[in-house]
Amino acid sequence: MTIDKKYVDQIINVTSKAAIASSFQVGKKNKIAADQAAVDSMRQELNKINMTGEIVIGEGSLDEAPMLYTGEILGNNNGPKFDIAVDPLEGTNFAANNLPGALSVITIAEKDNLFKAPETYMNKIATAKVEKGLVDLDYSIKKNINNLADYKNTDPSNLSACMLDRPRHKKMIEELKKLKVKITLIRDGDVAGALLVTKPSYGIDIFLGIGGGPEGVLAAAALDAYDCHFQGKFIFDNENDIKIAKTMGIIDLNKKYDLKEIVKGDAIFCATAITDTLSMKGVQVKTKNSFTTETLVTHKSSKTNYPGIEKRDIIFDHNQN
Ligand code: FBP
Repeated sequence: MTIDKKYVDQIINVTSKAAIASSFQVGKKNKIAADQAAVDSMRQELNKINMTGEIVIGEGSLDEAPMLYTGEILGNNNGPKFDIAVDPLEGTNFAANNLPGALSVITIAEKDNLFKAPETYMNKIATAKVEKGLVDLDYSIKKNINNLADYKNTDPSNLSACMLDRPRHKKMIEELKKLKVKITLIRDGDVAGALLVTKPSYGIDIFLGIGGGPEGVLAAAALDAYDCHFQGKFIFDNENDIKIAKTMGIIDLNKKYDLKEIVKGDAIFCATAITDTLSMKGVQVKTKNSFTTETLVTHKSSKTNYPGIEKRDIIFDHNQN
């Protein structure tokens, strides 16, 4: 089964409007307001779509998030059943501080085809397509880098690795330094970080390290459409997270998930730029009610136009949104 192409158009509209709603808060030093604007708009637009969509990755549980909470059912209940993962504002610091990299992101898949991820950290590894068993979360950094260098017929010193700039990555960075690998540290935004392996022009051979679990699932959906390699392992390091994982049906807490276990079947991924990104311009104002957005779109089953960047002129009604 595949997801009808008409949904691509509708999801681009949803992330575009969420991006526009959030863009009014850019630079205002208020991450919560910037996120809330995106959440409100996203929920309103998703509810207009002919579908029964369940949020499997959202803003938290019902008691933490009144909107777009995990388990919330959206759509007009008149269409196919979907699993939905949302990150209405990915990169809250970027938006609050008017820095590049803020995105509004959604993935939809057919029902029961998207991994229901708990809100814990995830250890991630992503590369372009490689032979099975070449790069693996269970290998040492040295083994992964040497394998990748051999595969690319080059020296480790010609490889580039990207990861979040966090103290928890100190040891990994030391090991990469010893191997003379070029290191790109990103301040936030590891959905976009993981996607840097999709094109040689981005200059990143491997994305590594620990970031959000939900962000891992969202990135995996896009990486699948690019036919890339991705693995993720959730990190359950406290009793509460372990309890939540168990209630979500996760039995083996140390399991490493391959991309195909995270996203099954067809999926649509849309990420609209709120502020500028490496490959997209942020929300551009045309008139009071009219804006131009740029969205990175993947639709696994329709290879004609996507993956690609879609530029849209959007009418935004300030009263309705
Ligand atoms: P927010 O948009 O929720 O602020 O997340 C930004 C982000 O950088 C994610 O891309 C990443 O997965 C996560 O934070 C990493 O978390 P932490 O900042 O705790 O290391």
